[in-house]
Amino acid sequence: MDYDSLLELVKKRRSIRKLKSDPIPDEYVDKIIEVARWAPSGANSQPWQFIVIKKKELKDKIIELINEHNRLGNKMEDAREPELRFIPSPSGWAHAPVFILVVGDPRTKEAYPLNTTLMRGKETFISSLASAFLYMTLAVSTLGLGGQWVSAIGVPYVQSLTKSLLGIPREMEIYDMLAVAYPDMEPRPRIVRSRDELVHHDYYDRAKYPSDQQVKDFIVALLNWKKQK
Ligand SMILES: Cc1cc2nc3c(=O)[nH]c(=O)nc-3n(C[C@H](O)[C@H](O)[C@H](O)COP(=O)(O)O)c2cc1C
Repeated sequence: MDYDSLLELVKKRRSIRKLKSDPIPDEYVDKIIEVARWAPSGANSQPWQFIVIKKKELKDKIIELINEHNRLGNKMEDAREPELRFIPSPSGWAHAPVFILVVGDPRTKEAYPLNTTLMRGKETFISSLASAFLYMTLAVSTLGLGGQWVSAIGVPYVQSLTKSLLGIPREMEIYDMLAVAYPDMEPRPRIVRSRDELVHHDYYDRAKYPSDQQVKDFIVALLNWKKQK
């Protein structure tokens, strides 16, 4: 693969929040997971396992748990200054025929150097799971499918009840869930920060250190983007 093809793929990978409920071939699910299996991880620890959920009653229960959590989570936004209140994403994921849960085995942290295990064990573990997850999202794009990243699955309320529902050992950690489906929308172009404001050469260019106001303006711009249809 050359650089241009890679760039094209990463630009093509988008969150798709309107999804068709039509089934997708099992072969596609295998292919998505096959790509994730090759992701980099701390000390090659490969902490991941994947739970493919297609059974309607299990999906319905997970949807219910997440909706319950979201009701409270969305209410929490009232605690913030109005300008910065998070706008929930549409929950198109609930229509997807397949949910892929990425779970991690924290015992694999012992593969890291002891200093890492003790000082940055959690970060390394989560970064490893995130890299597998990201690979899955790229694979989804190449297959002409769409996906939505569902991180509410990892909050304690949803996580503990999902573990109980699916028989996941308590010691395992649910990282995140990818809802996969045929897309039912074309995503609109999103805000991408310019290279110039992000890159420093040799030394940190203090002129590029954003002021509090600039950071806030950026967040408000993201929210405004979300408000536009
Ligand atoms: C760690 C992480 C958690 C995310 N959680 C969610 C989520 O719970 N729901 C959702 O709709 N999108 C979620 N996203 C997707 C981001 O909102 C999305 O990637 C971002 O807005 C950029 O849009 P794009 O994916 O279309 O390029 C998550 C992304 C990351 C990296």
